[in-house]
Amino acid sequence: MRAKITVVGAGNVGATLTQRLAERDYADVVVVDIVEGLPQGKALDLLESGPIVGYDSRVTGTNSYTETAGSDIVVITSGLPRKPGMSRDDLVMSNAKIVAGVVREAVAASPNCILIVVSNPVDAMAQLALGVSGFPRTRVLGMAGVLDTSRFRTFIAQELDASVHDVQAYVLGGHGDSMVPLTRLTTVAGVPVAELIPADRLAVIVQRARDGGAEIVNLLRTGSAFYAPSAAVGQMVDAVMLDTRQVLPCTVYLDGEYGVRGVFTGVPCRLGAGGLVEVVDVALHDEEREALHRSAESVRQVVEIMEQRRAEIDPALKSLAAS
Ligand code: LAC
Repeated sequence: MRAKITVVGAGNVGATLTQRLAERDYADVVVVDIVEGLPQGKALDLLESGPIVGYDSRVTGTNSYTETAGSDIVVITSGLPRKPGMSRDDLVMSNAKIVAGVVREAVAASPNCILIVVSNPVDAMAQLALGVSGFPRTRVLGMAGVLDTSRFRTFIAQELDASVHDVQAYVLGGHGDSMVPLTRLTTVAGVPVAELIPADRLAVIVQRARDGGAEIVNLLRTGSAFYAPSAAVGQMVDAVMLDTRQVLPCTVYLDGEYGVRGVFTGVPCRLGAGGLVEVVDVALHDEEREALHRSAESVRQVVEIMEQRRAEIDPALKSLAAS
């Protein structure tokens, strides 16, 4: 039987991701949205691309979760995007209600799935997904680090006229202003980036990577980024579907790793068939660890808002900590 992946949300991120996954040809893809006709139309259009592009993936669009039953992976992209001037955290209550509802329905239909959360503010939404699903932390991943790292790699490659293939980098922490690009561990063809780019230029590049999402929001004005975010999810889905055990920065529920407990934060994660195989422990310098802790604390504050307003988000939700 072919594997099945559900993408919730047929907006820009969801539709582009559905295309990317269909083209992988390793799973059937179901795209769900509340807007009638939208997921059906996009799915049919993608299905009709199969003979040209050369894939047999069945792509189905639906407004209900019946067709999603038994999915191996469910990716949640639903929610409102940012408008210019908004932070990701400004979206918390409106998106929390949407994401909680989606998680309830999705996990009822696919109790063994791996959840990948994209909706913003992503670290907090992933924590909400953990609380609502009651899943073990190995099966709830948030997408942020692959995207933030890709932006950082892009700007470094541009600066040096290097191939993106040669630029390796890590961006850890939450997906927000406090994210932590680790320049010390960033290399270009094996050479530490600090030996190639002067410190003042590197600082500008780090800041541009931090503001990468807002830069796109300001350009598009009516939405947020979707090509790079969907590419990032695609890489995480590959690691799970193909059991590659690749180490990718993802936001996961930390249970003492890096000195952080009880909150989602971006760290290097080995991903494989079961989702999170392990959190990879990279030795951090004191100032890097402090920056990671500050970032985790800013996620915790957003989670705290949801904890206090739990009944509004989902009356059945007992706690946002792992069970
Ligand atoms: C961004 C959104 C996905 O960073 O948060 O573009």
